[in-house]
Parts: sequence; structure tokens; C-alpha cells
Amino acid sequence: MEEERISLKDIKGIGPKILKRLEELKINDPMIIAMSNPKELSAILDIGEEKAKEIIESVREALGFKLETADKVLERRMKMRKITTSSKALDELLGGGIPTQAITEAFGMFGSGKTQLAFQLAINVQLPEEQGGLERACLFIDSEGTFSPERIVEIAKNRGLDADKILKNIYVARAYSSEHQILLVERAAEIIKEKNIGLIIVDSITSHFRVDYTGRGELAERQQKLNKHLHQLQRLADAFNLAVYITNQVMARPDIIFGDPTQPVGGHVLAHISFYRIYLRKSKQNLRIARLVDAPNLPEREVVFQITEKGIEDYEEK
Ligand SMILES: Nc1ncnc2c1ncn2[C@@H]1O[C@H](COP(=O)(O)OP(=O)(O)OP(=O)(O)O)[C@@H](O)[C@H]1O
Ligand SMILES: [Mg+2]
Repeated sequence: MEEERISLKDIKGIGPKILKRLEELKINDPMIIAMSNPKELSAILDIGEEKAKEIIESVREALGFKLETADKVLERRMKMRKITTSSKALDELLGGGIPTQAITEAFGMFGSGKTQLAFQLAINVQLPEEQGGLERACLFIDSEGTFSPERIVEIAKNRGLDADKILKNIYVARAYSSEHQILLVERAAEIIKEKNIGLIIVDSITSHFRVDYTGRGELAERQQKLNKHLHQLQRLADAFNLAVYITNQVMARPDIIFGDPTQPVGGHVLAHISFYRIYLRKSKQNLRIARLVDAPNLPEREVVFQITEKGIEDYEEK
């Protein structure tokens, strides 16, 4: 598994002087810094211990990991919550719903229901806990311009919910490029706190990256940027105990993307990220089939749900 590659010169606290010293010492792997202690680092770089500590912290953060004691890990796990999808079958597939402290990715072809599920979740996160929500708001990052307040209203009304109130608790940010999308996530912490966001949706996570990094030679760079973006989302998920739902279109025409067309564009499972992946595909009429892939603790199986005027629903065979 490949580590996220970060550049030492981008680390907060590492100026040209320290960078030069690191180069002289042939320390070019951030992991070495991440694993060192402030005393050591201050000695070899000839800097104060506080400064060394700051550098170590920022490298660790950039690498997307923090060392935690086991009791803290347990404490955090106990706070994990699930958001219902409105389909019992789909909830069960996911072990209870869309979890906080993790990223859930829906991938599939156009019309497979990725965005419809996003709308349902944007509503459901607002429900009281006993109804499968978190009683928190949604941050919806829309990169394709397909966010539909009308559809939100339709679903809310058909479920007897206060549509106005639901709309007021969905904060929509249109992302115009991959850089812009990255920036929106980097700056999200403040709005998350202020608006009590319990779910971040990025619909879709990959479309801008596909356009902005098209050449074969740019594949590595795209992957690296995407990895960093995902790590940032994971960090928000952990820090604020929130759920992240991202969508990813896989294409019907294998010749226009790289690699296996049925594999999500994000590529390999990423280190330090808690990842749930649902593969969605169309079945007859408004039915959809969901399959959970690569989940370490859950069996790989398929369930059926439907998309109706009420949003996502279970399918009852007649
Ligand atoms: N009001 C509705 N009632 C019933 N079904 C609906 C309704 N609105 C949308 N749908 C269904 O949802 C489908 C669209 O799904 P969705 O937009 O979630 O696809 P997607 O996976 O996001 O596709 P893309 O990759 O193009 O973004 C429609 O084709 C239709 O079958
Ligand atoms: Mg969509």
C-alpha cells in the first residue's frame, strides 16, 4: 500500500533554512520526522524544542495520522453514530447506516442513484436520533451542479417533514474546480462548528479531478491530490464525529478512463482512512442494487432498494 506522499517544503514550520538542513542530512522522508521526538529533532536541526515539536505535529497531521492511546481510540469509537438511508435493507448492508468518523463512497454509472441517496441523507441527518438521524445539519459540496432543492422538498413533503426547515439546514457549496473543491474542504472546519454539521456530502468527489488531470502523465499527481483531499475529509470526520458521503461515477466506456472501468476512480484503499464503498447499479424500473465492497468487518452481499417520490425506500416484493 502506498503512503500519501507529502512534500517537506509544504509543512508548516519548515522554512528554507530548516529545509536546507534537512537536505544536508538527507532526511527526505516525512515519516522519519513524524516518528522522531522533539528533543532529537531539535538537536539535529539546531532549533528549539518547541519549534521541533511544532514541526513534528504538522508532519503528523499532513501524513494524516495522530498517535492515540487505546483508551482514546475506544472513547472515539463509542461516539460513532449512524445515519439511516431510509431503506432497512441498505442500512443493514452498512451495519446500521452511514457511519460517522468514516467516508462512505457510492460508486456506479449515471442514474444509479448516487445523488438520490445524497439527497436522502441530507434530509435524514437532520432527523432526531431515534429516527435514525443526528439532529445536525448537512454541508453539501456540489461539483456537478446537480443539487436539486426541488427534489429535497418533494422527498421532505412526501415524508411529512417541514421542507422549509430541512432546506435551511443544508448548506450548499458549488465547487468549480478540483482546487476549489479542495479549498472548500480545507476551510470547512469553521462552518462545521458554527452550523453543527453532521454530514458532509461531496457529489461527486472525482469529476473535477478527471477534467483537471486528464493526461496519462498526470495520473500520479491526480491520485496524490485526491488522496490528500480524502485524508482531509477523514480528519474532519474524526475531529467532529461526522459522516462523509462521497459519490464517484464509473463510466460505461472503458476506453476513456484508466484501468478497470468498474473500479472506483479513487484507486486503491487508502491508508488511515476508514472507507465504506457501495457499488450501485440499476435494476428494472426504479429498483437499484447495492453491493458493499472491500469492507473488512462486513460480508460482501447485495440488497435491493427503490427510488420513489419519497426518496430512498425498501422494496417490498408483491
Ligand atoms: N422524483 C423521482 N421519483 C422517482 N425516481 C426518481 C425521481 N427522481 C430521480 N429518480 C430516479 O433517480 C435516477 C437518477 O439518479 P441519480 O441522479 O441519483 O443518479 P447518479 O448516480 O447520481 O448519476 P450521475 O452519475 O449521472 O450523477 C433517475 O434516473 C430516476 O430513476
Ligand atoms: Mg449524480
